Amino acid sequence: MIDFRKYEQISMEFGQQTNILYGENGAGKTTILEAIHSLAYTRSFKTRLDADLSRHGQAGYQLKGLFSDQQGVNHEVRLKVESARKKLVSVDNKNLKSRAEIIGKFPLVSLTPEDGELTFGSPENRRLFFNKLLSQVDPVYLENLQIYARILKQRNSMLQAYANNGSPLDRILMATLDDQRARVSAQLHEARSQHIAEFKKLLYVAYEQLEQKNSLKMAFISNVRITAGEPEGLYRRAYQDSLAEDMRKGTTTRGPHRDLFTFFLNTKDLRKFGSQGEHKLVLVAIKFAEGRFLENFLNEPPVFLLDDLFAELDVKHSLMIVESLQGEHQIFITATDLADLRHHGLQVEGDTLQVIDAGKIQNNG
Ligand SMILES: Nc1ncnc2c1ncn2[C@@H]1O[C@H](COP(=O)(O)OP(=O)(O)OP(=O)(O)O)[C@@H](O)[C@H]1O
Ligand SMILES: [Mg+2]
Repeated sequence: MIDFRKYEQISMEFGQQTNILYGENGAGKTTILEAIHSLAYTRSFKTRLDADLSRHGQAGYQLKGLFSDQQGVNHEVRLKVESARKKLVSVDNKNLKSRAEIIGKFPLVSLTPEDGELTFGSPENRRLFFNKLLSQVDPVYLENLQIYARILKQRNSMLQAYANNGSPLDRILMATLDDQRARVSAQLHEARSQHIAEFKKLLYVAYEQLEQKNSLKMAFISNVRITAGEPEGLYRRAYQDSLAEDMRKGTTTRGPHRDLFTFFLNTKDLRKFGSQGEHKLVLVAIKFAEGRFLENFLNEPPVFLLDDLFAELDVKHSLMIVESLQGEHQIFITATDLADLRHHGLQVEGDTLQVIDAGKIQNNG
């Protein structure tokens, strides 16, 4: 890392299995996870603003990482930000033209305090999560999402102009857009149904491992009801039927951008009724399922970045998590206190484990 947040210039090497980053508040633990995430996905999980990541007073930053894949082949990823508008990413010295070229190559599963929104927050948070997940394993899905977003933007601006300023609505253009939208919607629906069915199985297994109960359920609830019949036609019909309402409201009311992904604990909506610890446990199960889902599709075991993993969890559940984690994955866990980790069941000594004192990392470039 060069000029990345608080770090001026440092390099570090990590163990193949469990890595514990410890140090007091502000020591720089989360920053290390951010650097790993930025290399694999070209952006941090905390911000999209490269200016925030550049060390105060600096215009840019640089990261270089060596990733070893399943076959033991090393890949060098470099990320160089020279200014707010100039960002270069290369893998093995080949410059990338788009993010899509690297997404899914070095899979990570991150669990950070920001992820709380995934179970506590609005449906939008869950749509974003599943869109990101499915995009990593299904490039056609990503492409369709982008096409859908473009159509939606154009459609909404037409509807807004009509509702707010009384501009006449180009009905022919609208019909063309909705025709395309129905086609893409049907494909998105199909992909979501298939992938979520797969994800659900993994989620239930992960949750049962942690809680010994099968009380978690997840539902994918399509905004347009797709019964027996041909989805594209059903979407087209729904879009025709809702046009009058859309014109009144000045926005697009129906479609996959309003699909719901909902978690239920003991048949009750987790978002509304779950306790803090129940939320966290479901979140951990989601992350484990995410890891297995990625691994199944990409044939590459993901690296886990676990920031503040044990917050909100009792010792019993922490132990279950530690047990299911150990083994096949490279893991990073942050902690402010090693005694606290021991208390939660993590053996903090042994040859599969590396302890890194973030407070003692010195500039060593
Ligand atoms: N762009 C920046 N330039 C310089 N320093 C920064 C920048 N961004 C953040 N920092 C500082 O870097 C330090 C390390 O932050 P980091 O989030 O990595 O700490 P942490 O070890 O995860 O702490 P905590 O235990 O509180 O979560 C903080 O003191 C923060 O103020
Ligand atoms: Mg932190």
